[in-house]
Amino acid sequence: MRTRSTARTVIAVLTGVLLAGGMVACGNSDTGGDSGSGGSDKLVLGFSQVGAESGWRTANTTSIKEAAGQAGIELKFDDAQQKQENQIKAIRNFIQQKVDVIAFSPVVESGWDTVLKEAKDAKIPVILTDRAVDSADKSLYKTFLGSDFVKEGRLAGEWLVEQKKAATGPVNIVELQGTTGSAPANDRKKGFGEAIAANPNLKIVASQSGDFTRAGGKQVMEQFLKANPKIDVLFAHNDDMGLGALEAITAAGKVPGKDITIITVDAVKDGMQALADGKFNFIAECSPLLGPQLMDLAKKVKAGEEVPPRIETEETTFTQETAKEALPNRKY
Ligand code: AHR
Repeated sequence: MRTRSTARTVIAVLTGVLLAGGMVACGNSDTGGDSGSGGSDKLVLGFSQVGAESGWRTANTTSIKEAAGQAGIELKFDDAQQKQENQIKAIRNFIQQKVDVIAFSPVVESGWDTVLKEAKDAKIPVILTDRAVDSADKSLYKTFLGSDFVKEGRLAGEWLVEQKKAATGPVNIVELQGTTGSAPANDRKKGFGEAIAANPNLKIVASQSGDFTRAGGKQVMEQFLKANPKIDVLFAHNDDMGLGALEAITAAGKVPGKDITIITVDAVKDGMQALADGKFNFIAECSPLLGPQLMDLAKKVKAGEEVPPRIETEETTFTQETAKEALPNRKY
């Protein structure tokens, strides 16, 4: 008797387990399309990052990873190593995995329409962060979150115009551009150029890409110094290239911040330190702390809520004096 009842109990338990298993399996296939590749209720965000070219980028990656964890979002992170083809591959992978939302910081502005159309056809909303694309069809993405790069260039140029207002002869400027074809390189060049047009003495005598890296900044600055006997000002599109250029300037026997006025963009800790130490002269801030806003937007677009087409980060500028005050509390 006891053996028969034990057997009945075992069968009942096994049946229960199998049924429960079946129900989970049904639940998975029912919600598989909606709940993203994770198969859980967690929002799944596929993020394609530009690379790890600068201190700014490292801080941006940290902000995104930390914010995803805090928001309970499953993050699928891909580092494109500064290559557009890698970003396109990553976006196609995210589409195949049926993530809920795709976000990316486009390495360059052009050439995204085909892959963005594929995401749209798969009904996966796309958020642009940090850098914009030049697609005419604005329906290919939901929103852009990032900085006004033209304004950053303009603020840098306006500061220089003010500093050199008493100049009676030519002021020779060299420009270290960011990655060729990228939104920050195009826009910072534009804003700076427009601002310095206010003083005809201010002339850009050489302009070349240093790809937003320290090594690039150093190498291109060495060439600038060899080719141009009189350089008065360096405008570097980011701190890292400015920091690389410092090495070239010092090696050439010149005093950075004195013999050559140095203006950069970003305001990461190393740049702020150089400014506080008198080696840089001015920085236009560009904030990399986009993570929390991005997670908020991902939740909203997934829920089908309306979001503004463009959300700009609030930023400031720093002189040598204000950098000294701000440095102790700088987070990145
Ligand atoms: O897109 C933002 C820019 O990219 C930052 O100014 C630069 O440091 C980075 O590499």
